[in-house]
Amino acid sequence: MTRPQHFGWFLARGFGPQGWGYPALDWDYDWTRPEIYQEAARTLEQAGFDLVIIEDAPSMGSPETIDIRVRHAFGGPKHDPLLLAPYLFQATKHLGVVPTVNPAASLPYTSARQFATLQHLSANRLGLNVVTDTGSARHFSDAAQLGHDEAYDRAEEWLDSIRSLWRSWDDGALVRDRATDVFADGTNMRRVQHRGTHFAFDGPLNALPFADGEPAIVSPGGSGRGLGFAGANSDVQLALAPLHEASVRAYRSKIHDAAVAAGRRPEDIKILFAIQPVITSSAEEADRIVAASAHPDDAALVQIARKQSSDLETDLTSLDLDKPLDLAIFGPHVSRGSIQRLVGDRGEDAPLRAHLTALVRAGRFSDRTGFVGTAEEFADVIEELGEWGNDGVLLWGDFHPVSLHRTLDELVPVLRRRGILRREYADGGLQANLQAF
Ligand SMILES: Cc1cc2nc3c(=O)[nH]c(=O)nc-3n(C[C@H](O)[C@H](O)[C@H](O)COP(=O)(O)O)c2cc1C
Repeated sequence: MTRPQHFGWFLARGFGPQGWGYPALDWDYDWTRPEIYQEAARTLEQAGFDLVIIEDAPSMGSPETIDIRVRHAFGGPKHDPLLLAPYLFQATKHLGVVPTVNPAASLPYTSARQFATLQHLSANRLGLNVVTDTGSARHFSDAAQLGHDEAYDRAEEWLDSIRSLWRSWDDGALVRDRATDVFADGTNMRRVQHRGTHFAFDGPLNALPFADGEPAIVSPGGSGRGLGFAGANSDVQLALAPLHEASVRAYRSKIHDAAVAAGRRPEDIKILFAIQPVITSSAEEADRIVAASAHPDDAALVQIARKQSSDLETDLTSLDLDKPLDLAIFGPHVSRGSIQRLVGDRGEDAPLRAHLTALVRAGRFSDRTGFVGTAEEFADVIEELGEWGNDGVLLWGDFHPVSLHRTLDELVPVLRRRGILRREYADGGLQANLQAF
């Protein structure tokens, strides 16, 4: 039976020059100004999306690889998405806005106060995509960079700290009684004296408590520790996993088990699978795109090598395409998961050309080999995910009206007709929308 699902948009290159290198996006586009993002946010709201998540990294990466990352604007520059959020709230009424935040980059008290301010300003529409990348540590102190699991420990301490500050006004602390001229009762506020492993501070928080729920917590980590963090703490998990039934069900159960172990209900967390679709106007067009991608020329491979070089902080563009890729070129700073995604199961003798070709090759929705196809075919995939219990889908792309309209114009009416996409919003902000079904 068809079930409604939640839809999000992942602004995958963050608040940066995402049109760079894509001539088709070269119209009325100034990435440093709010207008283009506001227009896109309105489009998503008209489409019935619950939220937009804005990717971020506070750093341009290791000193040795900055040029690789900025030369084609893949890895930077990026402006702070928390400061873009108010402009998107102002342009919309229901859309949740979720900037990415890294506990390495801000102290709990400052963050709790900033997030509380935005939650009030937006009428409960703030979310926070909590990430644990440690590569930017050198910008914030000279302390040693944390390991993978320690970064999750710090993220949990940071989030617990923020929540204890948000809850530092007990019931009855906010009085607002004009007759007695009492605004608040300071004797009903908790002092919150936190002395932890990573943070030490006192409360209470100098911001109003929430009457209608806290900002939504979103998380993207896919390791065992990451899924455990999501189950214990998150309202939304961004899921990157193969979209076949066993994989989808296994991913969901791991998070649900972690939620139950932490005393929560499985339905407290919505799991959104990330997909980057290419929607075509006909099956023939989709077939042509897939066929054209089967044998990419060297120019196409260099283009994908540039992006990979930025993501992997390792220059692949100067390597011989026809020689085996020596994995020793990747330093210890490079994510093992990202290397694995590049090399797949092709073996150590496979030339770089084979790895890059696999990334360029597209497949069809219709036979479940990829993400190219018509709106109806994509809706079939989403409907099937729903039959396996899925909560929703996160469409992955830039935030330019051209890309949004290409993806959504035919898809939204199809999803609505099938009852998969909401027609109206709950009255109460992001958490209320997430919990509406
Ligand atoms: C869909 C998705 C979105 C992500 N967005 C960001 C991001 O905006 N900023 C960031 O620093 N890391 C981002 N990450 C990386 C995660 O925060 C995390 O560092 C990474 O997945 C490693 O954690 P893990 O080992 O638990 O998977 C993202 C990961 C996924 C799957």
